[in-house]
Amino acid sequence: MESFFSFLSLKAAFLLIFLVNFSVGHKHYRNKEGGDGVQPLSKILIHKTVHAIHEKASVHVYPVVLGTTGKDYEWVTVNVVSPNPSANDWLGVFSPAKFNASTCPFTEDYYEPYLCTAPIKYKYANHSDANYNKTGKNTLYFRLINQRADFAFALFSGGLSSPKLVAISNAIVFANPKAPLYPRLALGKHWDEMTVTWTSGYDISEAVPFVEWGFAGEARTRSPAGTLTFPRGSMCDEPARTVGWRDPGFFHTSFLKDLWPNSKYTYKLGHRLYNGSYIWSKTYNFTSSPYPGQDSLQKVVIFGDMGKAERDGSNEYADYQPGSLLTTDALIKDLDNIDIVFHIGDMPYANGYISQWDQFTSQVEPIASAVPYMVASGNHERDTPNTGGFYDTNDSGGECGVPAETMFFVPAENRAKFWYQTDYGMFHFCIADTEHDWREGSEQYKFIEKCLAAADRNKQPWLIFAGHRVLGYSSNSWYGMEGSFAEPMGRDDMQKLWQKYKVDIAFYGHVHNYERICPIYQFAKFCLTNIDSSSSDAGVLQNQCVNSETSHYSGTVNGTIHVVVGGGGSHLSAFSTLKTVWSVYQDLDFGYTKLTAFNHSSLLFEYMKSSDGKVYDSFTISRDYRDVLACVHDGCEPTTLAS
Ligand SMILES: *[C@@H]1O[C@H](CO)[C@@H](O)[C@H](O)[C@H]1NC(C)=O
Ligand SMILES: *[C@@H]1O[C@H](CO)[C@@H](O)[C@H](O)[C@H]1NC(C)=O
Ligand SMILES: *[C@@H]1O[C@H](CO)[C@@H](O)[C@H](O)[C@H]1NC(C)=O
Ligand SMILES: *[C@@H]1O[C@H](CO)[C@@H](O)[C@H](O)[C@H]1NC(C)=O
Ligand SMILES: *[C@@H]1O[C@H](CO)[C@@H](O)[C@H](O)[C@H]1NC(C)=O
Ligand SMILES: *[C@@H]1O[C@H](CO)[C@@H](O)[C@H](O)[C@H]1NC(C)=O
Ligand SMILES: *[C@@H]1O[C@H](CO)[C@@H](O)[C@H](O)[C@H]1NC(C)=O
Ligand SMILES: *[C@@H]1O[C@H](CO)[C@@H](O)[C@H](O)[C@H]1NC(C)=O
Repeated sequence: MESFFSFLSLKAAFLLIFLVNFSVGHKHYRNKEGGDGVQPLSKILIHKTVHAIHEKASVHVYPVVLGTTGKDYEWVTVNVVSPNPSANDWLGVFSPAKFNASTCPFTEDYYEPYLCTAPIKYKYANHSDANYNKTGKNTLYFRLINQRADFAFALFSGGLSSPKLVAISNAIVFANPKAPLYPRLALGKHWDEMTVTWTSGYDISEAVPFVEWGFAGEARTRSPAGTLTFPRGSMCDEPARTVGWRDPGFFHTSFLKDLWPNSKYTYKLGHRLYNGSYIWSKTYNFTSSPYPGQDSLQKVVIFGDMGKAERDGSNEYADYQPGSLLTTDALIKDLDNIDIVFHIGDMPYANGYISQWDQFTSQVEPIASAVPYMVASGNHERDTPNTGGFYDTNDSGGECGVPAETMFFVPAENRAKFWYQTDYGMFHFCIADTEHDWREGSEQYKFIEKCLAAADRNKQPWLIFAGHRVLGYSSNSWYGMEGSFAEPMGRDDMQKLWQKYKVDIAFYGHVHNYERICPIYQFAKFCLTNIDSSSSDAGVLQNQCVNSETSHYSGTVNGTIHVVVGGGGSHLSAFSTLKTVWSVYQDLDFGYTKLTAFNHSSLLFEYMKSSDGKVYDSFTISRDYRDVLACVHDGCEPTTLAS
């Protein structure tokens, strides 16, 4: 989303100047919901910090040992005293607690105090007390999560852009900083396999990771887990390689196999130390997948661009991803009515500040530890110039996909190419990686065709396509300025596949709002004027709604319904003022969608606002197998009269 200007082709730049009032260009940065889309940690110029330690200034934090009752988060109290307070004093949280020059890679422009690591979060010292700038005293409360290292707080004056280090606190630490935490489930490569991925401080040289699991209330078995991590050198650019780097710990994935359909399992994470002791996590539950094609109630939630936010108000959260906690909490509340979740790209928007990934996995843990949390790759996970992606933007802050690919499992052949297929009962999902080339002839195009063709529509009638960027249709303001009403080149080749394989619904994020499009069919219209033209025999592309119905679809599948559901939490994106024939419903708010398959002939689609979890838009599809088979425009095999 922040890569707005890189979208503008020269043509569109002219359009912008001549047709559109320039102020529109700023609207998707600042709107009624706030949000400037800039990673708050990137506003801190930590390497410019100068020495200003004052012996009468102090920062004191307690308790000193956290998580003594086994919790993976704790609220701490911070007392700040400064003899020279000012309104832009701020308090940074550093982890590890030792963050001085001794921890920095060698540099030639070294000077005291030389800080080279961004804090994991911060608050202004006047938080909840406007008098701080007079009294020089305040008490602040922070919520810390277990992130495998100790913590220290530091008081700075000079604001975020020219920090002066005034005082450093005592160090505090979790009782077991290495504890196995934040399990996230994902479907494996087969329907009867669930994967569990978690984070810990235990390398394979110290302990053997495994999952102990079984039917709820019955004997348990143990399955081993693999261990992965990634070093600083695997980051492609700054800030991920520099001030944003933080040791990510170890990621373990276990494959729980031969699951029975729709069964309730219980599991916990374990590490067996080499001296024979065990370290255990909490106990969690999940329900296994239905058999592919199985006729039972199945509920799927899909959204994009949720981001993360700090429950203690750190990092000016309301200005970065203002709807993130609303969506997370709405999903947690509705968890009993959700079987599987798809978060289609732009997860924490860490943008190269690696600490933020822990905080994201902690935020989604109540969801991801209970239902499969399937992810797609977005520009904020992947994009770094000259790293083989489709877009040359810096949107991932130099992460070039590595944290996302290591911390989340997806059933892809190669997780660096983040496309995959997965089955869930009567659904077949084809998940695209829009940060890699999808055009005809590309490796991904071949995969998508194979994936769509793999759906046996008699057993899996509900065929879903999803990807991060809008390959289909969106009335977002900058797509409107482009004139493409989609990612440039998005539809050009994909529409052939959607039509041929009769995709029911295509979902996208990237654009931070909600929009539903009519079932649509794009075709080339041949005009008389084109017949003599040597340059064009392709005709003019027309987008036609194949159905004037808007809420109860039935019969032949002769168009794909496209849905933008990128309002998961990041600052909202304005709609274009240009009206299109195909836009059915638009909402400039935070929300998510849910698909409910009642059986092979009845599907319910719902859009919920994150603020109240209530349904604001919905439609149903009712049809039989013959309606999928029925011949429509580009979706038919040739027939023969031979008998
Ligand atoms: C605290 O300081 C910040 C930064 O200077 C300022 O924007 C904010 O208005 C202040 N808050 C209060 C409550 O005074
Ligand atoms: C860095 O901080 C540690 C304590 O956190 C201290 O022991 C050490 O002397 C400091 N080193 C420098 C170079 O300031
Ligand atoms: C303290 O901060 C408040 C609000 O940010 C501001 O109105 C006031 O002028 C400041 N007072 C001093 C003494 O700096
Ligand atoms: C094994 O090592 C751990 C961590 O060092 C320690 O807490 C535990 O007491 C040891 N267990 C035994 C049986 O020695
Ligand atoms: C798991 O299920 C059991 C009942 O089978 C229940 O007591 C427990 O609270 C559940 N745990 C979680 C984390 O939901
Ligand atoms: C990306 O960041 C690099 C510096 O790391 C800068 O040179 C380059 O211009 C940036 N590219 C874009 C497209 O913003
Ligand atoms: C598409 O299918 C619907 C429902 O069967 C039908 O009413 C409509 O005429 C069809 N549209 C086209 C363009 O074939
Ligand atoms: C499918 O589910 C819908 C909605 O619950 C119901 O009305 C319909 O009768 C069901 N059809 C079959 C064949 O069970």
